[in-house]
Amino acid sequence: MSKEESIVKIRDLRLSYYTRRGVYHALNGVDLDIMRGEVLGVAGESGCGKSTLGLTIMGLLPRNAAIENGEVMVDGFDVVRPLREYFRRSKGKFKPTKNDDVLKKLHKAMMNIRGVKVSMVFQEPMTTLNPVMPVGYQIAEVLLQHNVSLLAKRRLARAKATREDMKAILGYLRGNDMASMMDYIKSRRLEGIEDQVMAYWRRRDLHDLVKEIRILSLCCDAVNPMLRPGLSYAARTNRLPSAPVLRQLVRHELVKEGYRKAAEYLGLLGMPEPEKVVKMYPHELSGGMRQRVVIATAMINNPELVILDEPTSALDVTIQAQILDLLKDLKQETKAAYMFISHDLSLLYQVSDRIAIMYAGKVVEVGPKDSVFKEPKHPYTQMLLEAVPTLEPHELKGIRGEVPDLRNPPKGCMFHPRCPFAMPICREKEPPTVDVGSGHKVACWLYAGGGEKK
Ligand SMILES: Nc1ncnc2c1ncn2[C@@H]1O[C@H](COP(=O)(O)OP(=O)(O)O)[C@@H](O)[C@H]1O
Ligand code: SF4
Ligand SMILES: [Mg+2]
Repeated sequence: MSKEESIVKIRDLRLSYYTRRGVYHALNGVDLDIMRGEVLGVAGESGCGKSTLGLTIMGLLPRNAAIENGEVMVDGFDVVRPLREYFRRSKGKFKPTKNDDVLKKLHKAMMNIRGVKVSMVFQEPMTTLNPVMPVGYQIAEVLLQHNVSLLAKRRLARAKATREDMKAILGYLRGNDMASMMDYIKSRRLEGIEDQVMAYWRRRDLHDLVKEIRILSLCCDAVNPMLRPGLSYAARTNRLPSAPVLRQLVRHELVKEGYRKAAEYLGLLGMPEPEKVVKMYPHELSGGMRQRVVIATAMINNPELVILDEPTSALDVTIQAQILDLLKDLKQETKAAYMFISHDLSLLYQVSDRIAIMYAGKVVEVGPKDSVFKEPKHPYTQMLLEAVPTLEPHELKGIRGEVPDLRNPPKGCMFHPRCPFAMPICREKEPPTVDVGSGHKVACWLYAGGGEKK
């Protein structure tokens, strides 16, 4: 069966936050697809629900978040189903404590999705990293949760490989013959070595000679014979052995292997001296280095979707540029899809394939980036683009009015109090989303037969 083209499918998602100050209607009928392998930029003013949308896909909502309606299908799994069912059962008596019980069950159900299929990078890296653990340990832990088998295979392969094996592998690499290299690795049952070989081979900061020396040294790394059966079990089953002492010993060995893989990965992400960095604590690193570590934790298990929530806003401009270059490289090398959340439209233009514009908890316009940027249809998008500073002189226009109070959002089109084109129907009825061509969709009465644009 062929896989669906979209990794995420969101339909009529309605979410409210219950607080002492009232009920905030944060998402008001979101319809959105994220296609496999694409970069979807999500833009909109602060408070329009961008982060809430990312957290919903991850199933990482706080207990006061009620799913009032809708579906969020992540690779065929409806993440919000239990929360939506609880909300329906509660019949208007929603209790955050009860919702919390449902969330706990959801967290368990999502063990095989979060970090494996979908992961998220937050704006402030310090909130994601544990301040009392070396960063290498934190990356190793993510691997140990989902990829025990890979770590064990890597370790066993280094013990089994001979210098002749590494010379043969290097020969295939020099000849750029990856297929024969993989055949050789399989025939010699050295699976796990390719991960390590490629990590050195793809490094841009290393001289070719250094790469080759490092690759040749990936052999004859003997394993304690007592550990061998435990490691073989882990390699076969993707689980740690259950016997307590053996489990502890194997875990210790695999944490060490995790550090090694963490250093390799950080090296690929352009981190200088990664072997030293993995032993450091978050406070010893600069903001840009920390964000690289967070990106590594999010990417190390090769997820199918990475949600980046304002990943560069807390960084200075030069580091921002480095992280953006890094993401562009990653996009070419991995087949992952990215949901890139930002209020910075010029940045989104650089990185995205498609753009979704949100206003007051709704996607008001979505489409291929050139189409949305060059021919914006929704009055809100047009005004957002007019407010972007450029080098060429043009009159900067702010958007009049304010984002509505989501406790009591305006009826009809929620943008109508700020819209210069508002018509009577806009104050009464929510506009439907219509396709204006080539997958460019807009939710505005001007394009849905409500009237002519002036
Ligand atoms: N945990 C929460 N409790 C109550 N309200 C919240 C919570 N998180 C977000 N909100 C509200 O939901 C709305 C959307 O917030 P958010 O998703 O963070 O927007 P954005 O990321 O676009 O700035 C805002 O009005 C915000 O105040
Ligand atoms: S539906 Fe009406 S109020 Fe809303 S953006 Fe379109 S024209 Fe403006
Ligand atoms: Mg946000």
